[in-house]
Amino acid sequence: MHILITGAGGFLGSVALHHAVSLPGVSVTALRSGTQRLPLSVTTNEIFLDESSSLAHLTAALHPNTPSHILHIGALSSPEACEKDPFAAERSNVTVTKILCEYAGHIGAHITFVSTDLIFGATKAPVGGFKPEDPPSPSSVYSTTKLAAEKLVLESGRGAVARVSLIYGHSPSPAKGVLGWIERSFKEGTPVSLFHDEFRTPIHVQDVATALLSIARLKLLGRWHCGGPARLSRVEFGEKIAEALGYDATLIVPSSRQDPLIHPARPEDVSLDSSKLTQFTGCAPLDVTSALSSYRKWR
Ligand SMILES: NC(=O)c1ccc[n+]([C@@H]2O[C@H](COP(=O)([O-])OP(=O)(O)OC[C@H]3O[C@@H](n4cnc5c(N)ncnc54)[C@H](OP(=O)(O)O)[C@@H]3O)[C@@H](O)[C@H]2O)c1
Repeated sequence: MHILITGAGGFLGSVALHHAVSLPGVSVTALRSGTQRLPLSVTTNEIFLDESSSLAHLTAALHPNTPSHILHIGALSSPEACEKDPFAAERSNVTVTKILCEYAGHIGAHITFVSTDLIFGATKAPVGGFKPEDPPSPSSVYSTTKLAAEKLVLESGRGAVARVSLIYGHSPSPAKGVLGWIERSFKEGTPVSLFHDEFRTPIHVQDVATALLSIARLKLLGRWHCGGPARLSRVEFGEKIAEALGYDATLIVPSSRQDPLIHPARPEDVSLDSSKLTQFTGCAPLDVTSALSSYRKWR
């Protein structure tokens, strides 16, 4: 199994990369979009990929290490950055996915595309969370481009869409995700403003990597939800972090996603029902307390 991983220098990508190379019988080619070196202690090929890349470019650049699987993690992943520059969002999130789908078709590879729970932003999750077959309702440039990319992957018939919830945990990347900035504020003793009215199903980054590699290994098709087992508001999530890591929870300042200064609009509840993933892959994401306990030992 030879896997092409995009976004391998990012928060999730670098964890997926490390996880992939630790598996027996797996080799990896890592793609990055920028000049940043990969935070790696393993050998990979680093190939520049941007919106000007073509099928011919990819085919030539990756030959003879033609992948059997593609893990497409790279994206313009900040909703704020996408809102500021919709053209860049379209190029990074849709055009690059289109090229990778063409490439997957050309070489007969399976593709796993990392999407987001935010494709459900405009409507509130039902009790138990959104299921993969529920109708999407994107409410931002970021989520609209991710949904457009999902469509390309599904229409290609070559792979799976993994909709991931809020990701937290340790990554060797310089990007540290939501836990990184919350913990930094706690350490500095500065107030942490967190929404009391936005609900998601946070998932540990290692569990996401495991799920993605399982989806790829099993060559699953269609839509898959990858969320943690509990629906939490950002405030509840922050309280769990403070409790597990020994910080002062009174630093948390509850705020509202409905504050008119918040742009793009934040969803009320995009919690995911990920039971299908567990049923088909055996992956059972850790609850936040257990995941933070392993994070605490790592620190
Ligand atoms: N973090 C979350 O909570 C979360 C939740 C749900 C879904 N997701 C999705 O998970 C994936 C990873 O997110 P993340 O938090 O790890 O983001 P991240 O740290 O920003 O990493 C994204 C990576 O994508 C690469 N990239 C950007 N534009 C690209 C392009 N045109 N072609 C190829 N690669 C490109 C960047 O590479 P360079 O550094 O080389 O520019 C960057 O390393 C994204 O698809 C995101 O939408 C994230």
